[in-house]
Amino acid sequence: MNVTKNADREPRGPETAEGHKGRSYREASIGLLSAAVFAVLFYLWGEELLPRAAGRLGGYFSFVGAVALTLAVALFLVEWFRFAGREVRKVRLAARDFLFLCTLSFILFFLAKGVVEVLPEVPSWNRAVPARLYVYLIPLPAFAMIVRVLLNSEVAILFTVAASVLSAAAASGRWPALLFLLLSGTAAASRSGRIQDRYRMLLAGVYTAPICAVGAIALELAFQGADGIWWAGLLAGINGLVAGPIALALLPVAEYVFGYASDIRLMELASTGHPLLHRLMLEAPGTFHHSVVVGTLAEAGAAAIHANPLLCRVAALFHDVGKVGKPQYFSENQAGTVNVHDILSPGMSRVVILSHVKEGLKLAQEYRLGDRVAEIIAQHHGTSLLYCFLDKAQSLIQERRASEETFRYPGPRPRTREAAIIMLADTAEAASRSLKNPTQGELEETVTRIVNRAYLDGQLNECDMTLRDLHAVEQAFIRVLSAVVHARVDYPESGRGPLGQVP
Ligand SMILES: [Fe+2]
Ligand SMILES: [Fe+2]
Repeated sequence: MNVTKNADREPRGPETAEGHKGRSYREASIGLLSAAVFAVLFYLWGEELLPRAAGRLGGYFSFVGAVALTLAVALFLVEWFRFAGREVRKVRLAARDFLFLCTLSFILFFLAKGVVEVLPEVPSWNRAVPARLYVYLIPLPAFAMIVRVLLNSEVAILFTVAASVLSAAAASGRWPALLFLLLSGTAAASRSGRIQDRYRMLLAGVYTAPICAVGAIALELAFQGADGIWWAGLLAGINGLVAGPIALALLPVAEYVFGYASDIRLMELASTGHPLLHRLMLEAPGTFHHSVVVGTLAEAGAAAIHANPLLCRVAALFHDVGKVGKPQYFSENQAGTVNVHDILSPGMSRVVILSHVKEGLKLAQEYRLGDRVAEIIAQHHGTSLLYCFLDKAQSLIQERRASEETFRYPGPRPRTREAAIIMLADTAEAASRSLKNPTQGELEETVTRIVNRAYLDGQLNECDMTLRDLHAVEQAFIRVLSAVVHARVDYPESGRGPLGQVP
C-alpha cells in the first residue's frame, strides 16, 4: 500500500458562514471550559504553584489570584486556537475535539502530579533516585501519540506545547521539565504518523526512547551538573519505551468515548469478518461486490494523490451499507429479477433510494464505525441528481408536480478528498458496469464524463481537490477499471478453456 507522510487526517474543507459562526461559539466555549478547569486547578494548588503571589496578596490571594490566572490562561488558549484555527486549516476543531484535548490535558496534569509527588515517596526508590528526576516519567509522549493518531500532526504540536506547560506547572515549573516535555512530546508525535497496526505503535515508542534519554541527560547536565544524569537518561528512556503500550491501551477507550476511528481501527473494520460487512455480503451480495470494486478504485485514486488509501478502501466497503434492509431496490442486486421500480412511482422510488444514506448512518452509529467512515457515508452522493429516475419523472417535472431539485440527494457534498474520491469511484463503477464489453476508449470516455459531470455540478466545491488531483484520480480509475473489466473473459460455450481444460 502506498502510504505517504502527507496522508494525514484531512481538514474539514473550506469554511462557510455557518462554520465561522460555529467557530466563534467553539472559541467562547473553550474559553469558558478552560476558565473552569483552571479555576479548579488553582483552587487545589494555587499557593503551591504561585508561592510568591500567595505571600504578597495574603488573604486576597485565593480570589484575586484565581481570577487573574484563569483570565490569563483562558485568553491565551482562545487567542492561540483562534489564530491557529483561522490560519491553519487542519486546526479547525469540532467541539468534540476540544473536549477530547481538554480531557487528555486534565488527565495528564493529574498523572504528572502523581508521578512527581507519589513516586519519590516509595521507600526503596527515594534514596537512590533524586526526587527532581521523576519529571522525566511524565507520560506526555504517550498522549502526544494518541493525539497524532486520532487527529493530526498540527493539532499534536499544539497539544504538546499546551500540555507541556500544564504538566510542567504540575512539576513546579522547572525549566528542564518544560523543555523535556516539549522535546519528548514532539519526538513521540513525529514518529506516530500513519500507524496502521499495534506493532508500529510499539515501534514508535522504541524510536522515541533514545531521543528522550539523550534529551534528559543533556538537560540535567546543563541545569544541574553531572549528578544523577544516568538516572535521568534511564527514566526518560523508560518513558519513551512505555509510550507505545500506554497509547495502545488508551486508544480504544478514546475511540469508544469520543467516536474516533484510528487507522488501526480502520484495519479491523476492513476485515470481511466484521458483522456488518458479513450482513451486507449475505443480504445484498451485489452491493457487497460493488463496494469491493469501489474500494479498489478509491484506494488507487487516493494513492495517486497522496490522500489516505486505507480510509478510502474501508469507507468504500461501508458506503452503501444502508442498502441491507432493501437490497432489491438497487440495480446491483437485481440481476435476473424484475426491476421493482417499474411498478413504483418515481416519487416512491426516490424516497427508497435516498433513504439508504440515512440508514447507512444509523448502522454506522450502531456498529461504531467511527467519525471518518460515517462522514463519508453521509457525503458519498453529495447533492447529486438521481439521474436514473430523472427521465421517468420528466412528465411530473413538465406538469410542475415535481422539480428537478427534488430528485437530488440532500447532501452534504464531499468535504474531504477521500469522500470526493469515493463519490467519483462509486459513480464510475456503476457506469462501467452498465457497459457491455467496452473498449479502452469507451472506458476512458465514461470515466472522464463522470468526473466532469461531478465537477460541473459543483459536487467537488467543498473539498480540496485540485484539477491536477482530479486528473490523477481519473487516470488511476481508468487503470484499475481496464484491469477489472478486461479480466472478465467470457467462457466458451462448452465450458472448457482454449486448451481444452476448465480455466
Ligand atoms: Fe450510495
Ligand atoms: Fe455505491
